[in-house]
Amino acid sequence: MDPLLIGTLFVLFLCFLGLSWFAGSDAPYVATKMDHIKKVLKAAGIKKGKLFYELGSGDGRVVYQAAKLGAKAIGIEQSYLRVLYSRYRAKKLKLPEAVFYHGNIFKREYFPADVVYIFLLQRAVDKLEKKLQQELKKGAVVITQRYHFKHWKPFKTIGEFNLYKKS
Ligand SMILES: C[S@@+](CC[C@H](N)C(=O)[O-])C[C@H]1O[C@@H](n2cnc3c(N)ncnc32)[C@H](O)[C@@H]1O
Repeated sequence: MDPLLIGTLFVLFLCFLGLSWFAGSDAPYVATKMDHIKKVLKAAGIKKGKLFYELGSGDGRVVYQAAKLGAKAIGIEQSYLRVLYSRYRAKKLKLPEAVFYHGNIFKREYFPADVVYIFLLQRAVDKLEKKLQQELKKGAVVITQRYHFKHWKPFKTIGEFNLYKKS
């Protein structure tokens, strides 16, 4: 095969990988800044024995932090690339309690969750407000970042994060 053609295909493949890293149907990939996240997770009640879900887990950084605080931490992410990367990092960091699943967050139910974390665009946050109000057990906490629930009143705000409790 022509080396120029192979080179062009390789560059196109790299462009595809690069673009797919940032893609996301309900929010593009933008990572949470980690400055306040430990404080926020602790305020939400994350500790040993708790079950944490992150809906749209990106590169897994918040899931790792929840697992480091002792929770069983589950990330759901629609990008295969980010799921594979997150699983690889969880192994490297020796965090067996950090688990990642590929899929659409709207096709799952979250009733066993103690804490749910979301950082998505407003339209998705609006849809999740209804879904999580219906599904979560009493006392479960939801954390939103930047884009917040419109009707559910937060019990705490820390910087850009709002924390909501299911009553
Ligand atoms: C703004 S980023 C936040 C990443 C991560 N939660 C963080 O805070 O660092 C949103 C993530 O949600 C993922 N996402 C968007 N819509 C999704 C959907 N319907 N199902 C699963 N993941 C989704 C995107 O692929 C992206 O990784």
